[in-house]
Amino acid sequence: MADYRFPGEWIKDGMVLEENVTSETISRLESFEMLQGDVLVATYPKTGTTWLQELVWLVCNNGDTRKSRSVNLNGRIPFLEYKMGGGESGLEMLQTKSPPHLMMTHLRSDTFRTQIEAGKVNIVIGIRNPKDTLVSFYHFYRMNRSLGNFKGSWDDFFELHKAKHILCGDYFRWYSSWLQYKDKPNVLLVKYEDMHRRMPDVIKDVSNFLGKKLPQNIIDGIVQHLSFDNMSKNNTVNRSIMATFDNKISPFLRKGKVGDWKNYFSKEQSDAVDKSYKDIIEPFGVTLSFE
Ligand code: A3P
Repeated sequence: MADYRFPGEWIKDGMVLEENVTSETISRLESFEMLQGDVLVATYPKTGTTWLQELVWLVCNNGDTRKSRSVNLNGRIPFLEYKMGGGESGLEMLQTKSPPHLMMTHLRSDTFRTQIEAGKVNIVIGIRNPKDTLVSFYHFYRMNRSLGNFKGSWDDFFELHKAKHILCGDYFRWYSSWLQYKDKPNVLLVKYEDMHRRMPDVIKDVSNFLGKKLPQNIIDGIVQHLSFDNMSKNNTVNRSIMATFDNKISPFLRKGKVGDWKNYFSKEQSDAVDKSYKDIIEPFGVTLSFE
């Protein structure tokens, strides 16, 4: 199964992409001007992107959960390179919105080198431990028609990871590209596991980073809104309207747990990921929780 290819996939510098992410959009993104006050959420798939996007949007909008429920998340924080439902890319959607722009990407940092170095845009990088990320990714491959509804087993999917042939490329290469910037003043790193353990603190960290001051009652409201149960029932974030997702095979908000990898990984698989984590992630001074 290491030779599994989904329909329409293409590769840019080792990054497997869907056909509705075009090289033209990526080229346009390289020179897209990002301004002071703009916010870019950069995540590898399945690391809690949706959760982090909703948090960032609420922090930027004074915790207005009513307003958040009135517009689909992609309309509030467009997915830059992706043409949702084959329509406009997030980049095109932004052209009709006045700044400051809130936006999201799953691309490696290479595309945004100029904007990162210009230091204007605020960048929130989301990260999750690689083992839970891969398990979540396996179920995403199964439920996603665009990815060919992967029929293989977990072991088959792990082979695909070992071959560095999954959507958006290898987890470790992806994070190497972004973590090199983590200590810049306009960059904040948010860990999925911290959102689990200490969400109020994460909301405060994001608020301080973005220069917003939120009273405690607003923070409490955001924490409640972001619970797994509430987000699972919230149609503006649970992706239930995505025609390409078969939520009956596996819901987009699937389990939302830390440590589910233990139900899947063999000792050998776990050792292999531990080694890459120690060799590639820890040297950046980043430690992640696995349980
Ligand atoms: P699982 O598949 O492990 O459940 P992304 O948005 O990057 O695709 O990430 C999806 C993962 O984030 C899924 O993980 C999903 O359940 C989890 N997630 C989304 N919202 C969450 C929440 N409110 N609480 C906990 N996990 C959440």
